[in-house]
Amino acid sequence: MVNSLHIGLIMDGNGRWATARHLPRTAGHLAGLKALKRVALGAIRNNVGYLTLYCFSTENWKRPKEEVDYLMGLFSEKVTGELPFFNDNGIRLLFLGDMFPLPSEAQEALHFVIEKTAANDRLIVQLAINYGGQDEICRAVNRALEKGISRITPDVIRSNFDNPEVPPVDIIARSAGEMRLSNFLIWDAAYAEFVSYEKLWPDWDEYDIVNIIKAFGQRNRKFGGLGK
Ligand code: IPE
Ligand code: IPE
Ligand code: MG
Repeated sequence: MVNSLHIGLIMDGNGRWATARHLPRTAGHLAGLKALKRVALGAIRNNVGYLTLYCFSTENWKRPKEEVDYLMGLFSEKVTGELPFFNDNGIRLLFLGDMFPLPSEAQEALHFVIEKTAANDRLIVQLAINYGGQDEICRAVNRALEKGISRITPDVIRSNFDNPEVPPVDIIARSAGEMRLSNFLIWDAAYAEFVSYEKLWPDWDEYDIVNIIKAFGQRNRKFGGLGK
């Protein structure tokens, strides 16, 4: 049974974490992956239903080739390497974004883990890779047009997203203190709550999920009405 709370995470600060330790930026990404596992376990223990993880934006291709190649390598090797972790903990993986420009090894690895975790239902994790909110909206509109739909409405766009069955994000949390969305989930952010924490992503653990849930519980969501 999947619970309904949906948390989106902008996992930022890997580079700053590594630089502070006189390490290459790639070491920060590896440490970020370890943080991700702690946070995912925290999400399961605290009955979160959905996590959407911002792993690589449509703009992150602007980074040095070495860093991009390292991240693409992580998406292929680590994703399959962590299959026992996903299955032991009931984690189902979904892909969010435009997979086509990724290296074929990464695409194969992602298809593989998506298939091998399809029966899990404790936590749904959307991996946002080569994801951009603007690109997501354009791809949804193009899908609708290809189906012959000539009138675009909010429902048409939402129902043509990559995983329309995933409910809109409830709360977006960003690490490393930045106060922007950086093209993350911009459609569903319409009424999402937002929190930002100074802590750099590789330092996150399961208690940071508890803090997000607490912050969310204190918000009065009004959706344009008068609220509670
Ligand atoms: C986030 O950390 C990870 C990715 C964008 C892939 P950064 O790499 O952006 O870390 P900072 O912002 O440079 O510290
Ligand atoms: C957003 O972080 C993308 C991911 C976390 C994958 P960035 O570090 O790329 O965002 P900006 O450039 O600071 O806005
Ligand atoms: Mg950053």
